[in-house]
Amino acid sequence: MRGVQVPFTRRSFLGGAAALPAFWSWALADETPPPSVLYRRAAPPITSADQVINVMDFEGLARTALPPAHFAYIATGVDDDRTVVRNHEAFAHYEIRARRFADLRRIDTSRKVFGTSWASPLYVSSVSSERAFHPQGELAVARACKSRATQFMFCTGSSVSLAECAAAHGVPLWHQLYATDDWTVTLGLLRRAEAAGCSAIALTVDLRSYPRYNETLVRAIREDSRQCTNCHVNNTHDMWRRGPVFAGLDVSRVTTLAPSDITVEFLDRLRAQVKSRLIIKGIVTGEDAELALAHGADGIVVSNHGGRDEESLRASIDCLPEVVAAVKGRIPVFVDGGIRRGTDIFKALALGATAVGIGRPQAWGLAAFGQSGVEAVLDILNRELVAIMRQAGTPTLADITTASVVRSIA
Ligand SMILES: Cc1cc2nc3c(=O)[nH]c(=O)nc-3n(C[C@H](O)[C@H](O)[C@H](O)COP(=O)(O)O)c2cc1C
Repeated sequence: MRGVQVPFTRRSFLGGAAALPAFWSWALADETPPPSVLYRRAAPPITSADQVINVMDFEGLARTALPPAHFAYIATGVDDDRTVVRNHEAFAHYEIRARRFADLRRIDTSRKVFGTSWASPLYVSSVSSERAFHPQGELAVARACKSRATQFMFCTGSSVSLAECAAAHGVPLWHQLYATDDWTVTLGLLRRAEAAGCSAIALTVDLRSYPRYNETLVRAIREDSRQCTNCHVNNTHDMWRRGPVFAGLDVSRVTTLAPSDITVEFLDRLRAQVKSRLIIKGIVTGEDAELALAHGADGIVVSNHGGRDEESLRASIDCLPEVVAAVKGRIPVFVDGGIRRGTDIFKALALGATAVGIGRPQAWGLAAFGQSGVEAVLDILNRELVAIMRQAGTPTLADITTASVVRSIA
């Protein structure tokens, strides 16, 4: 895993390229990727997390560190992966209006979320099966989050147990929840989460057809001759049959993580059982935000699952304003999808997000350097956020408003 040799010059446009099928013929041929158009000289190899310049550098490191199928599991979207690409590229539609005469002697990135003070408006979102990226998997992510005082959203598809991650994280986790088509099992997951002290349940509502047809992943699996029976018993991707989060529950009647009856009646039923906060993850319209709120949501995550579920072509940052308008400040609105820069965080806050989540960047950092890789991802994003807050003349998060961005006319 360590000492991976990649050029120092990789630049962010690779994020989009990596998600395109055409990328794979290049990636799998193991050729050197095209360098930045501005800096074409070869640079020394990256051998530790502290040498990494920006978050997108980690993508290349992960690609080199991981077998094709595991890297493709991170990269993949559905169909042509265009929603994955759009999630990131759409941030370029928003330009920052920098103000000059602010007093910058004290920069404060802290934010109150559900009554708890966060040092930064950045959290680590749920990513399943992280031991496919590093032997310590979610444990390393939980430790990194602890060391950087960052909220970690534990995943139903975690490859490390809830108890271990809760102990490593130190403060209450958020628990992403997939409903199954067996209410007893769904309730069992909820009870365990709350018994482990999780302070919020984030119900994922964007997975409506399962299994998904992640073409990029399917292509890479065909290229990858290794046997993965340790991770996938009989090569099944049914996480309820193999995941530690389901261990000890009777999953014999579960057939899907995308039950057809995730309706508002289901929200009512779940709400009646959730004692902690209920976050609805995967909302992309104002109408659904209103429904989620009316049926008991304490928070909403604007998300299209990192473009992994439907080829909507709508970037989550472009969905954020209508959700914020519908919610009218009554509950926190979070957003994830394509956040790779401190400026992306800034723009999301300007458009009304309370805080932002990252998915792939943590997996890339983890694959490259384990815990220190995830820590570096968080450090880079937080450092870049401070830099743009200074540049934009917004010393506190409250200073970042809709007036801080303008939509590009290009
Ligand atoms: C490899 C991978 C696995 C994921 N697994 C889950 C999951 O099990 N449940 C879930 O709600 N979201 C899952 N997500 C989505 C993330 O929580 C998040 O919404 C998304 O990755 C954000 O977009 P980004 O990757 O561009 O940062 C996963 C994302 C990735 C990349």
